[in-house]
Amino acid sequence: MRLTRLDIQNLRCLADVEFRPVPGLNLVTGGNGAGKTSLMEAVHLLGYGRSFRGRVRDGLIRSGQPALSVYAEWQDGQGRARRAGLRHTGGDWEARLDGAPAPSLTELCAELAVVSFEPGSHELIAGGSEHRRRFLDWALFHVEPEFLPVWRRYARALKQRNALLKRGPSPGALDPWDQELASAGEQLSSLRADYLARLEPVLAGTAGEFLPELGRAGLQFLPGWRRAEHPLADALLLARERDLVQGYTSVGPHRADWRVDYLGLPGREALSRGQEKLTALACVLAQARSFAADRGEWPLVCLDDLASELDQAHLRQALGSVLASGAQVLLTATEAPAILTGELLPAATFHVERGQLRTG
Ligand SMILES: Nc1ncnc2c1ncn2[C@@H]1O[C@H](COP(=O)(O)OP(=O)(O)O)[C@@H](O)[C@H]1O
Ligand SMILES: [Mg+2]
Repeated sequence: MRLTRLDIQNLRCLADVEFRPVPGLNLVTGGNGAGKTSLMEAVHLLGYGRSFRGRVRDGLIRSGQPALSVYAEWQDGQGRARRAGLRHTGGDWEARLDGAPAPSLTELCAELAVVSFEPGSHELIAGGSEHRRRFLDWALFHVEPEFLPVWRRYARALKQRNALLKRGPSPGALDPWDQELASAGEQLSSLRADYLARLEPVLAGTAGEFLPELGRAGLQFLPGWRRAEHPLADALLLARERDLVQGYTSVGPHRADWRVDYLGLPGREALSRGQEKLTALACVLAQARSFAADRGEWPLVCLDDLASELDQAHLRQALGSVLASGAQVLLTATEAPAILTGELLPAATFHVERGQLRTG
């Protein structure tokens, strides 16, 4: 996809901004607190229904304003002109897609494929498993039509089972929910396992570019129960007594995780902070590349403050490989990085200052 226009109102310090990105590399410079990350958050919001810094109600709306709004125009993979708008009060939202009301935020997010790498992205490697499940499910959401209905079935069954567990159910009351949870959960896990298996060689490539010294990168899927030993139905039954005591479901795909292992490195703990960041970046770019292979077009790539995260050599490598693919990139920096010459020359430069954006 190719973003051509982004209008933002009342998102953090951005009171009223019109952004007109071009194909290729778009560089946005500005001092600390100028509004660079806020601009990235606006794009991320349309692609995910939330910011990478949290939910809308957690400070995304400009102080003193009732709502934020973001409007975007872009060209999809078939070259069609598309548009979407979102107004969000933190509680309620209103979204439009190509001139008609969008029935849910999910419909909107399905149309805008965005991947982001920002200073908090090392959480993908170092943080809790919810980051990694979100990463996994983003890809499936975009490339696997079966995913969303199965995910919804699973989420509903889990909610019902947990509600029952808290109530102390009569014997047998859990059975139908266990059955539904097991059936949806097995499908969900197969989709996740298949995706990670497809992603693994792509990741081995991107990680090999950034961290060749660590040896080949592999992906290990942790499905949320001992999937190799028994089906989910059995795991749920085995966990039932414990679940009744604890009041929630302790096994299943809602506990799933994955991790990157390097052949040349025995334990994940041994990664330095810098290596964690590079591994996270390798995962994000592998995901974008794998998306492109499945869908025939690159997602929009947002790289917030990348120069403060990477040394010059890795920065050149990362930008070089993304731009060579023809992807559209939004890159922010406090100052234009010195390496942005030749093939890495920005196609357009913008400057943001106290929430105002100007071109050039
Ligand atoms: N809800 C809000 N309302 C108004 N201003 C905000 C809000 N949240 C954050 N800000 C301000 O927005 C500015 C933009 O920050 P940010 O986009 O992170 O800047 P940069 O990435 O350029 O350093 C900061 O000065 C911050 O204080
Ligand atoms: Mg920032």
